[in-house]
Amino acid sequence: MTTQNSKTGMFQPVLATDNLRREHEAALRVFRLMDRAAAYLKDGRDISPFFFEQVVDFLQLFVVCSHHAKEEEILFPYLIEKHIQENSVPINTIHQEHLEEHRLIQIMETGFQLYKAGKGAGRKLLIETFEQYTHIARRHVMKENTLFMLADKGLSAADQAALTQSFHDLECRKLYEGTAARLGELVNELEREAFHWD
Ligand SMILES: [Fe+2]
Ligand SMILES: [Fe+2]
Repeated sequence: MTTQNSKTGMFQPVLATDNLRREHEAALRVFRLMDRAAAYLKDGRDISPFFFEQVVDFLQLFVVCSHHAKEEEILFPYLIEKHIQENSVPINTIHQEHLEEHRLIQIMETGFQLYKAGKGAGRKLLIETFEQYTHIARRHVMKENTLFMLADKGLSAADQAALTQSFHDLECRKLYEGTAARLGELVNELEREAFHWD
């Protein structure tokens, strides 16, 4: 699988790791909004519950169901099989961090439900879990980006193509058709909503 560079006209292999890096970029944009939302709530100001529902949806579908599954079910086993490992980024630690993120997303869901019902506990839970989650998830993304650099050195173009195909198959299996594109658009929508916060 190749893509043509618009400047050089050369064909380059499609990197499966670039798919994950692009997803990290989308997630980091949402983390920035989560930081702003937590600060806003701390100030005693209100945000539409719909915003939190969309954030939780993004995390459950885009991050957990698709992105983490690509890493846990496809990339990491492949790297282990190829003996590509980074001592400073043990895959077991990455796995534990995924589990911690999943736990926090479940609490966020409870927080969102309470906030929507007008309960003060919901605001507190959302502030706490947003702060904890973005802290853990940002460090996690940095660690994985280091691992992806190492993977790019060790994987052949054929490996990357096989992984890209497996990622595509996983998306087809786990998400309804069009969901991946809709989730990408959701990040733009969230940024447009947050544009009006002062
Ligand atoms: Fe991850
Ligand atoms: Fe990741």
